[in-house]
Amino acid sequence: MTATIDISIKKTDHSRLAETDFNSLQFGRTFSDHMFMADYADGEWKNFQIVPYAEISLSPASSSLHYGQAFFEGLKAFKQADGKAAIFRIDKNAERFNKSAERLCMPELPEEIFIKSIATLVDIDRDWVPSKPNHSLYIRPYMFATEAFLGVTPSTTYKYIVLTCPVGPYFTKPLRVKIETNYTRAAEGGYGYAKAAGNYGGAMLPARKAMQEGFDQLIWTDAKEHKYVEEMGAANAMFLLDGKLITPATDKNTILKGVTRDTILTLARDMGYTVEERPVAIAELIAGAENGKLTDAFGAGTAFTIAPIASLYYKDEEYFLTDPETREFSKKMLKTLNDIRYGLAPDPHNWNYIV
Ligand code: PLP
Ligand code: COI
Repeated sequence: MTATIDISIKKTDHSRLAETDFNSLQFGRTFSDHMFMADYADGEWKNFQIVPYAEISLSPASSSLHYGQAFFEGLKAFKQADGKAAIFRIDKNAERFNKSAERLCMPELPEEIFIKSIATLVDIDRDWVPSKPNHSLYIRPYMFATEAFLGVTPSTTYKYIVLTCPVGPYFTKPLRVKIETNYTRAAEGGYGYAKAAGNYGGAMLPARKAMQEGFDQLIWTDAKEHKYVEEMGAANAMFLLDGKLITPATDKNTILKGVTRDTILTLARDMGYTVEERPVAIAELIAGAENGKLTDAFGAGTAFTIAPIASLYYKDEEYFLTDPETREFSKKMLKTLNDIRYGLAPDPHNWNYIV
């Protein structure tokens, strides 16, 4: 869809591309040359601009800094053999962007603005889309409240910004995962399904404790009983149990409806697997780890891609799962997914938005 917004473009006169080492990218630390910005005021989006990546000025009273009206998205662009870039499932992220906005009492961003802002930015910084295997351009659109007002009420002004970062694999080894049964990420009626900044801030202390105990990640459990899987810190959790792909359902609105989750469920159904979106009890995973029926387990997310789970720690015991190197399902899924994203295989669901 082409939008009618006019974007003012000011290009950098000093590209950082030549001095950037694409062989040692750390996730989220290297930013491409430009960023997109827009303002919301008087009930409309305006001031669409692409400018050199730089600091911005902000009132110290900006309400997002005090009351958390802030959320983000994450998606990726992949280099194609012909040099073009494919942005993966941008329409899904546009949809979720507005679900987050609605829950946080923030303004809707029309889908055409979301798509045009990102497509134009990726086009201008297309040389920042890495060509190395398993690398991509991570795209971070976000919105936050800017009104200088300390009253606890929705802001009347907002900023929408898009940054991009060339990235490689998020993890380099399979994950030792702690099943969290003390802290809670989200409860029914809360905003766990929104990609709200506050969901991540509240998760940091439990995650740090898990890391201090030697684990790489958490699996959150339900707020009521801590007996059912919710999701991971920045990924949905998926398991192959007794030959079926199982993952927590999203109907309680406590977990993020991952785009990667939806993609993998769709591909698994295409491949003929039985897929179950339902409550996933910790007890059945532990039983499966013990009797060998849990043959695959991984986190699925844009940044994580498919991150194999090596072990599950639950109630003072660590259960090691099958060797990730020998896991047929997740290996096949990763290859199928990558072949589509890098344009090496047909894209039957029209997931790639080519720039
Ligand atoms: N759950 C959380 C909490 C996340 O931060 C993410 C990452 O975006 C996901 C799940 C996976 O979502 P997606 O596949 O859309 O990136
Ligand atoms: C993403 O996959 O886009 C995420 O949100 C992960 C990020 C929090 C590191």
